[in-house]
Amino acid sequence: MIERMIDPEEKKEDVFEKNIRPQSLEEYIGQNETRENLSVFIKAALMRSEPLDHVLLYGPPGLGKTTLAHIIANELETNLKTASGPSLEKTGDLAAVLSTLEPGDVLFIDEIHRMPKFIEEVLYPAMEDFEIDLVIGSEGKSRNIKIDLPPFTLVGATTRAGDISAPLRDRFGIISKLEYYKESELECIIKRTSKVLDMPIEDKAAEVLSKRCRKTPRIANRLFKRVRDFALVNGETVITEEMAKKSLTKLKVDDFGLDAIDIEYLTSLITKFNGGPVGIETIATSIGEEISTIEDVVEPFLLQEGFIKRTPRGRVATEKSYNHLKIEYNSSLF
Ligand SMILES: Nc1ncnc2c1ncn2[C@@H]1O[C@H](COP(=O)(O)OP(=O)(O)OP(=O)(O)O)[C@@H](O)[C@H]1O
Ligand SMILES: [Mg+2]
Repeated sequence: MIERMIDPEEKKEDVFEKNIRPQSLEEYIGQNETRENLSVFIKAALMRSEPLDHVLLYGPPGLGKTTLAHIIANELETNLKTASGPSLEKTGDLAAVLSTLEPGDVLFIDEIHRMPKFIEEVLYPAMEDFEIDLVIGSEGKSRNIKIDLPPFTLVGATTRAGDISAPLRDRFGIISKLEYYKESELECIIKRTSKVLDMPIEDKAAEVLSKRCRKTPRIANRLFKRVRDFALVNGETVITEEMAKKSLTKLKVDDFGLDAIDIEYLTSLITKFNGGPVGIETIATSIGEEISTIEDVVEPFLLQEGFIKRTPRGRVATEKSYNHLKIEYNSSLF
C-alpha cells in the first residue's frame, strides 16, 4: 500500500505535535455553527453548575473531533478521560473507565461506533441516570449490582454516523456534524501552525497549501511540515509560493489535493469500468485497497468535490473526473 501524504488518518508524528492543536473555542478555527452552539451550551451548563449534555461529534477524519473534545473539557474546566470503542471489550473495561470519573468530568469515547452492542447497553443508564448495572460473580452465584456515577458529560466521536444505533444516538443531547473547511479557514490554520512552529510562510504559499489539503486541517498541518522540511534543507527562512509548489509536486499532491490513491481510484473507475456505475467492493479489489479506507477516506472527499457520484447501482465518475484525468468524456454513454 502506498503511504499517503494526504492520508487524513492520524499518524504518530501528528500526535507528538500537540501544541499545534488549539486549546480553546476561541482558537478553534472554522466550524462556526458547531463552535457557536457549543459555546452557548457550555456557558449555560457553567451557569447552572450542571454537566454539559452529552455531545456526539461526527465527520470525516482529521476535521477536529478529538481537538474539540479536549476543548470542551478545557472550557468546562474539568478533566478529560478517554477511551475508544474498540478498546472496550468487556463491560468491566467500561466500568473501570467510568469509575475514574469525578463530578463534571468529560469522558471522550473515540470511534464510538465500534463499541460492542452489549457495552453500549451498559452505557445507556450511565448516560441517562448516571448509574450502571453490573452482573458480578460467576454463573449460579452471580448477582446484579447498581453503581452510582457522578454526573459527567460523554463526548462521542465517529467518522460513521450511520453506524451508530438509534438508541445510542438518541441519548446525545447535542449532535454536531463537522464539515470540510473553507480555504480561507485553512489559510488561518496554516498561518497559526506557522507561528506555533516558528517558520514564517508567505500568504501566497499558505493559499497554495490551503487549496491542496483536502479541506482537512490535519493534512494542512502535515503538508506544512513537509514543505518546511524542503525549505529548511534549501536554506530558506520563509516558505515561499515557489517552494510550496515545488514541494507539493515532489510529494505528488496535485492541484486539487488528490494523491496517488485518488488518481488510481478514478483511473480505475473510468478505464476499467467505463466510468461506472460500479460497486465499491469491485473498485477496492481492482486497486488493492481496503473497502473501509475507500469508504471513510477516499470517497467522502471525491464526492464532496464532485469527482464521483453515488447511485443505487454504484459509483459513477463525473465529467470533472474525466477532465481532470484528461480523458474524453462521452456523455451519450449514459
Ligand atoms: N478547527 C481547527 N483549527 C485549527 N486546527 C485544527 C482544527 N481542527 C483540527 N485541527 C488540527 O488538525 C489536527 C487533526 O484534528 P483531530 O485529531 O481533532 O481530528 P479528528 O476529527 O479527531 O480525526 P480522527 O477522525 O482521525 O480521529 C489537530 O491536531 C489540529 O492540529
Ligand atoms: Mg480523533
